[in-house]
Amino acid sequence: MAADTECGEYFIREIEKNDGRVLKLKQCYKGDVGCVVWDAAIVLAKYLETKHFSNPASSGGSAWAGRSVLELGAGTGLVGLMAATLGADVTVTDLEDLQSLLKVNIHDNQALISSGSITAKVLKWGEDVSDCLTPPHYVLMADCIYYEQSIVPLVESLKVLAGPETCIICCYEQRTEGINPQVEKQFFELLHQHFSCEEVPLDKQDPEFSSPDIHILHIQRKV
Ligand SMILES: C[S@@+](CC[C@H](N)C(=O)[O-])C[C@H]1O[C@@H](n2cnc3c(N)ncnc32)[C@H](O)[C@@H]1O
Repeated sequence: MAADTECGEYFIREIEKNDGRVLKLKQCYKGDVGCVVWDAAIVLAKYLETKHFSNPASSGGSAWAGRSVLELGAGTGLVGLMAATLGADVTVTDLEDLQSLLKVNIHDNQALISSGSITAKVLKWGEDVSDCLTPPHYVLMADCIYYEQSIVPLVESLKVLAGPETCIICCYEQRTEGINPQVEKQFFELLHQHFSCEEVPLDKQDPEFSSPDIHILHIQRKV
């Protein structure tokens, strides 16, 4: 299949996996925030490879094998692609405008995916999610808490998409400038009404790809 982006010129970001293979993500010079790989996505992608997710039952195999994963606001698709290379069955979602970039990046990294799978879909927060109603094992989101208008719809979507057993893993960069602290505060106030959160300490994250201002949370529906 010939695959091309609609964003014109692009450049490639390489992310090396622990097994030495390299994910190659096309990013666009021009376009909205989803067209580039954000640091929170790298931190989350590398966290998925840590021993927290190794499966003792399969002599060190990955706990991602056969798990269903839904990624929200996937942008270039790095996080979902990492999960798929680890054996998960992944749906990466974002707005319509990001679909061609997501599909190109899936196409370009397909050779790294053997037992897992990955597809791209449109999912706009707060809108119809009837396509994704079976609760996944995991919802992943990187750098999705940044936009005031989307806080309420994002939490609404999490409420519809996450079942009682779903683990939401949210990675975000804490920003101190402008409206960002207020947006984060608003998100967590709303989230805590329906979900409980536990922060992953830095020493449980990838030793190289982690940072004190980038947080990883495990989030679960309150019972
Ligand atoms: C800062 S980017 C992060 C992209 C990617 N997760 C990463 O970390 O590299 C935020 C992403 O959220 C998506 N997004 C923003 N508002 C959205 C909405 N209402 N519904 C779905 N996706 C949305 C954007 O298109 C963008 O891809």
